[in-house]
Amino acid sequence: MENVRYGIIGLGNQGTNYAIKIFDAGKATDAIVTAMCDINPAKIENIKAKTSNTEAKYFTDYREMLDSGLCDAVLIEVPHYQHPEMVMECLKRGINVICEKPAGVYTKQVREMNAAAEKSDSMFAMMFNQRTNCLYRKMRDIVREGGIGELQRVTWIITDWYRTQHYYDSGSWRATWQGEGGGVLINQCPHQIDLVQWVVGEMPVAVNGFCQYGKWHDIEVEDEVTAYFRYKNGATGVFITTTGEAPGTNRFEISGTGGKLICEGGKLTWYKNGEDSAVWSKTSKEGFKKPPKEVIEVETDGQNPQHAGIINNFTAALLGREPLFVDGREGIAGVELMNAIELSGWNNGETVTLPIDEDRYLRELNEHRAVSRYKEVDDNAVADTAGTFESKVK
Ligand SMILES: NC(=O)c1ccc[n+]([C@@H]2O[C@H](COP(=O)([O-])OP(=O)(O)OC[C@H]3O[C@@H](n4cnc5c(N)ncnc54)[C@H](O)[C@@H]3O)[C@@H](O)[C@H]2O)c1
Repeated sequence: MENVRYGIIGLGNQGTNYAIKIFDAGKATDAIVTAMCDINPAKIENIKAKTSNTEAKYFTDYREMLDSGLCDAVLIEVPHYQHPEMVMECLKRGINVICEKPAGVYTKQVREMNAAAEKSDSMFAMMFNQRTNCLYRKMRDIVREGGIGELQRVTWIITDWYRTQHYYDSGSWRATWQGEGGGVLINQCPHQIDLVQWVVGEMPVAVNGFCQYGKWHDIEVEDEVTAYFRYKNGATGVFITTTGEAPGTNRFEISGTGGKLICEGGKLTWYKNGEDSAVWSKTSKEGFKKPPKEVIEVETDGQNPQHAGIINNFTAALLGREPLFVDGREGIAGVELMNAIELSGWNNGETVTLPIDEDRYLRELNEHRAVSRYKEVDDNAVADTAGTFESKVK
């Protein structure tokens, strides 16, 4: 294989962004787009007018695109409910696939997709572009190397996802139980929900979710969430998010007996205790004095290639030049955590233990879908999403 031949399914905001700003812009190495698909002909016309790619073939039926023999690999850029089904259709045909976040709407669906991936020889990755961010990679390394000692607290305030009513009115599937399967958790936060378990290195064992539905916008799903996590060693966590606050905050803090890490404003600071605080507490002859600490502005490799990084790693992995960075099967962890928060939110913050009861989640989701409001809006517009995924952490 000289160049990996990519197909893109879904030519809305994100699919268009990849076609123009990554492939046309020459940021995808050893890769070309040979096929593109959208069920909406207006989206095809839109991209034809913008792209410099004159070779790609266009389809309105994604299965026809997969059967065309034009694609070695596919990027799935459609609303969330369809992700697992499309991944499985690719794997069935021996086509390699990058699934957009989130892996799916509910774990039962994602588990089925993972089982198909288990049996397949094709490559399957998740578009967890924020895992390429040097700050989060470094945070993860420090935690794994024991740099914060025994975990005590995880706090992520990610409230700088400000969205207007115009945004919510820009697509009929957006912010509905039927079309999207949730609100700020499933649309804006899949990266942070993935990172909060990837960086810390473990999932909480229990969750309480306090969700407010349509608090800041005329929508039926949650646009404000405060979730409480409990970890197996008794450590706790808080995850706060909203699309209704400006200017908002993005601050990720992990603390333990060895010190704390704070990621905010594009930098990572490590407050490193000179002695483990639990040991100090037992041995110190003083009542108020804390262990000595060092404050380190952590240096990273400076690399933050985001979406192009995931695509280029996938291409290199297919060509046998690099190991795959994000195995697609890892997507289920974030879906499970989102489902746990949502399930608790629907039930007045009841404690939900993990692994969640998947049948109950699907049953309650379907109850919400059954009364979901249909939105009559113009689905033909395509917006520039550049920078919207990154929040303030560069
Ligand atoms: N990784 C990131 O940073 C990032 C950023 C934005 C969006 N996303 C994800 O990208 C996905 C798409 O979001 P978007 O904002 O581009 O939505 P969008 O509504 O702008 O685009 C979705 C497109 O999919 C098309 N579509 C729907 N069903 C289809 C089908 N069966 N076959 C072919 N095309 C179909 C629609 O016509 C539409 O053009 C979502 O899963 C979203 O979470 C990821």
